Amino acid sequence: MPATTRKVLDRRRLLAAGGAAAALLVAERLAGAWPAPAQRGGYPFTLGVASGDPAPGGVVLWTRLAPRPLLADGGMAARAVPVDWQVAADPSLGRIVRAGTVLARPAQAHSVHVEVDGLESARTYWYRFRAAGELSPVGRTRTLPAPGTSPQQLALAVVSCQHYEHGYYTAYQHLAQEDLDLVVHLGDYLYETAPSEGQPRRHTTPAPTDLAGYRLRHALYRTDPDLQAAHAALPFVVTWDDHEVENDYADDQSERFDPPAAFRRRRAAAYQAYWEHLPLRRRSRPRGPAARLYRRLRFGDLAELAMLDTRQYRDDQPCDDNGVARGQVVTGCAERLDPGRSLLGSGQRRWLLDGLDRSQARWNVLAQQLLMAELELQPGPGLAYGSDGWDGYAADRARILQFLQARRPSNPVVLGGDMHSFWVNDLHLDNHQPGATVLASEFVGTSISSSGPLYEKYRGYLADNPHVRFFESRWRGYLRCQVDHRRWRTDLRWSTRSSDQARRSGRWPASSSRTGDQAPRAPERRAAGLPSCPAGLRTYVRLSYRSWGLGKRTTRPTLGRSPRRYSGARNSSASTWSPSPGWPPISNRTCGLTGPRSGASCSSSANSAPRPTGGSGAATSPVVGSEPPTAERTSGVSPSVFSLVQGSAPPAQAAEEDCRPRCLGSALCS
Ligand SMILES: [Fe+2]
Repeated sequence: MPATTRKVLDRRRLLAAGGAAAALLVAERLAGAWPAPAQRGGYPFTLGVASGDPAPGGVVLWTRLAPRPLLADGGMAARAVPVDWQVAADPSLGRIVRAGTVLARPAQAHSVHVEVDGLESARTYWYRFRAAGELSPVGRTRTLPAPGTSPQQLALAVVSCQHYEHGYYTAYQHLAQEDLDLVVHLGDYLYETAPSEGQPRRHTTPAPTDLAGYRLRHALYRTDPDLQAAHAALPFVVTWDDHEVENDYADDQSERFDPPAAFRRRRAAAYQAYWEHLPLRRRSRPRGPAARLYRRLRFGDLAELAMLDTRQYRDDQPCDDNGVARGQVVTGCAERLDPGRSLLGSGQRRWLLDGLDRSQARWNVLAQQLLMAELELQPGPGLAYGSDGWDGYAADRARILQFLQARRPSNPVVLGGDMHSFWVNDLHLDNHQPGATVLASEFVGTSISSSGPLYEKYRGYLADNPHVRFFESRWRGYLRCQVDHRRWRTDLRWSTRSSDQARRSGRWPASSSRTGDQAPRAPERRAAGLPSCPAGLRTYVRLSYRSWGLGKRTTRPTLGRSPRRYSGARNSSASTWSPSPGWPPISNRTCGLTGPRSGASCSSSANSAPRPTGGSGAATSPVVGSEPPTAERTSGVSPSVFSLVQGSAPPAQAAEEDCRPRCLGSALCS
């Protein structure tokens, strides 16, 4: 554990220092307990706390001072405000290991981004802020393993698409209970749409086009207590998709063909507000309409994760000359095959492929916004493709797949979002060639809350897309990936419990209940005449897929049990860290897939299931199927995903709904 630095800096000197340096960590403060908060003015931490972009020795800590978050200035005067921060080795914050003071500046909406370093690798820490005599909620975070080490396992969640109006963030309420190293957010953190009628919740401001508008929209989303709980519980690594700026934009081309110069101004405002509200490092801070968001995280020799940006550098969508919109379903569009067009941009693609070529990691993860697999959208004869995704940039996708085939980086896995539905796909160069090599496995997570595409309509596409191994659009949730040197397991997790019910029974850290100008929630749903979910319905089902793969560049490891992470944290008696209640007691429910797209068939096996938050979760996952043949396991490419489905179902009153729940989405029932 690093020695605590004990310097004290006079606050007036800090304020006088000014400039960029003072906005960073400028001094280590005397560590130790802080006195009880003095009640002065509004509570400034209404938007919670967050951490992100973990490194082996550090992490970014974030908060924003906003006593009235739904006002343009957040309720803050136009002056800089000192914010103290502490990082501790224990949940009761008794053992402070790092501390300091930063300035929250009006030019950054009084947000702070503290880049803490000097921490131990692969370790859990707790943190909090203090400003205006008030204490923030306590957050928990975790650093990455050190370079050169061989961590035995990695656990991460993949989330995307959290339209505020479409539902509650029930998925985040579950996610906050997970035992993970980090959360990967693949975009559509907010939606720029105007307020609309008949939804469970409502945007409170018009469609944003300037900095003030985007700040207000971010603030609204961040008032949600489930989102706050997830940010407080786990470090996030974030990237954006389109809705953080505008639907289906491409570089400086707006969806509705605005003048590029005007759209660049809008993009600059949106990028600035995004950076202000998320735990990003200074190197990702926008300069006008540009921001470097693609980056790489390394988990020792176990995995490398390339976080991509598929919006900022792309050519505009193909075949949009009809002036309808940027993104369309196109037929007979030769432009989408044009090798001169790119989704990633040449610089980012070169960075990605160079990194893959150098990687010594067992698993090489491409975390990107979209569905990477081809998706043909014309049932039967004829071909149709969406132009906004990888299908609109088929040559760029082929370049990456050809690289995987030629250079064989160890075990490529693609993670995606955007589709508001679960997809598990084999990635081939030619999907219709029998026996084509699987070059990577793709897992696309469903949305946190955004409405999914029509299930029956999309099921109709599957016959023409034989590389799709699983599809489900009816439920909201996330992916949980648990990885060791031998196995990649992805759980498709969804919840059908309505968040407002959960909130009534939930406990939250005392300080986070003081959230100031909260948007109304449950009453809106009732006022909109939406039906209530059946009382007590808590459905939770999961599917697990297992991929096997051994890389060409790493030797087979000695497998062993790794210690459970976060030991002691969950059962701590410390009052400063009180996670909301655990999962409801559930019965085992085993669902099996007999083959691709066969649909889940379920059989009951009632007994008490372990909490799904417990470590590797292996106890709940009997393997269905068999290991791939030896030749596949040593081929150096990711093998085909093979079927394994395991469900955990709710108590008796909802036993019939676990595979076909009545309460779909995070708030809506059908
Ligand atoms: Fe979305």
